[in-house]
Amino acid sequence: MNCATPMFLAFLACGGVAAPALAQSSDPSAGRRLAASLCVECHRIDEKTPAKDEAAKAPSFVDVARMPSTTELAIKVFLRSSHRNMPNLILTPDEIDSLSAYIVGLAPKR
Ligand code: HEC
Repeated sequence: MNCATPMFLAFLACGGVAAPALAQSSDPSAGRRLAASLCVECHRIDEKTPAKDEAAKAPSFVDVARMPSTTELAIKVFLRSSHRNMPNLILTPDEIDSLSAYIVGLAPKR
């Protein structure tokens, strides 16, 4: 197998998923890219990137991350359920995992 492939392919091809059941699908940097394209309309996605539409009154992801009730699981559940004030976004499980990892990672470790 040729391991001189781009990073993400190398990860897949060179033992990154030796145990498929343990394959890691959450990638905070992918989560950030998703947030920057799908969520920034309404949410401030980090300290520096304000929501495009402040009138949406969506909580900043930094604030979400700091709430004691926020865990990766809680965000995953939230993104899989329907909400009154937020559009129901169609996200793949991998996207949900990555977004959750990204948001949780915005808060200092407790
Ligand atoms: C059209 C505007 C809009 C978009 C786009 C949007 N949100 Fe929201 N979101 C909201 C609003 C408004 C709330 C507050 C809802 C409430 O309190 O009922 C919210 C709440 C949340 C919360 C819950 C915070 C809490 O109180 O627990 C999370 C997590 C969240 N959004 C994640 C996301 C993610 C991830 C995306 C992108 C994939 C996204 N949102 C896209 C408007 C939006």
